[in-house]
Amino acid sequence: MSGEVSLKGKRILSGMRPTGRLHLGNLHGALNNWVNLQNRGGYECFYFVADWHALTSEYKDTSKISAFTIDMIVDWLSAGLDPSRSTFFLQSEVEDHAELFLILSMITPLAWLERNPTYKEMKEELFDRDLSTAGFLGYPVLQAADIIMYKAFGVPVGVDQLPHIELTREIARRFNFLYREVFPIPEPLLTEVPKLLGLDGRKMSKSYDNAIYLRDRGDELARKILSMFTDPERKTKRDPGRPHLCNVFSFHGIYTAPDELEQISEDCKKAAVGCVECKGRLAAAVAVGMAPFHEIQDHYLNNLNEVRDILADGTSRARAIARSTMDEVRDALKIHRLQKM
Ligand code: TRP
Ligand code: SF4
Repeated sequence: MSGEVSLKGKRILSGMRPTGRLHLGNLHGALNNWVNLQNRGGYECFYFVADWHALTSEYKDTSKISAFTIDMIVDWLSAGLDPSRSTFFLQSEVEDHAELFLILSMITPLAWLERNPTYKEMKEELFDRDLSTAGFLGYPVLQAADIIMYKAFGVPVGVDQLPHIELTREIARRFNFLYREVFPIPEPLLTEVPKLLGLDGRKMSKSYDNAIYLRDRGDELARKILSMFTDPERKTKRDPGRPHLCNVFSFHGIYTAPDELEQISEDCKKAAVGCVECKGRLAAAVAVGMAPFHEIQDHYLNNLNEVRDILADGTSRARAIARSTMDEVRDALKIHRLQKM
């Protein structure tokens, strides 16, 4: 019981939309952050699959959301998230999120949503979808419900999500002000993220077809790495290169030991190593770095029932917390259950 109290202020929550397999951009941009928070101990970590949020962009073809949900859990597990230390759950199985979303949408001024920069950005990025829906405009309200439902103190996210967290804070404050102090105001938890781009030098993204996935291995992985753009001004092997401007070198920074890294940098600047060899060495290092991931993936892909059990187990824990928050919310709103009227 005392454990429960001391951890109360230390709940962490984050989610991802199941719209595709995870790539190294997701790993180094968010997932590693989640794993570190889990491994630090002292926090109660809740990580969830935001399948309703996936609907905002995928509503015309919903056929892959379930498969991506399972894939996502397998990828999380392979990156070191551990169901005995973190709780994984599925948003759509905790229907209370929809109830809280509805209530929060009643108190959220439209202007807050319309000026949200993430909304504008997403709309531009997903130019091929028709996003003129109420659901898409309300996306951050659902996100606010996800977060405050668990009274999370910290939300590990990438910078792109900061406006959403800011909006969550405003919505929580407004609820507390209008009714009663129910919700703590959550903090975004950002970490230093290495600048890793996709194969073609643009932001790594499934929609640009330039991603290295956590599942890629063997020839596929090597082929992708050998196709990476390098320092654009290094036309031939005789030109000296500029490692600090090269995406391949950024990856070396993560996957290659410091002394070898130093050597590569020197050799690149002196034109003593060619890009093909340099990429070959990176491919080997990434293969080694990813091998433990692939082992875990193989285990769970052969035991998918374990994956479903992990998700079901976490979901029932999440549900218990959500139910109790909704009781408080109903009390605060004076929307009483019939038997209490
Ligand atoms: N919007 C987040 C993303 O696109 C996903 C998400 C939904 C989320 N609900 C959340 C993240 C709550 C953190 C907390 O990545
Ligand atoms: Fe980049 Fe390596 Fe080529 Fe230098 S040698 S430009 S670090 S790929």
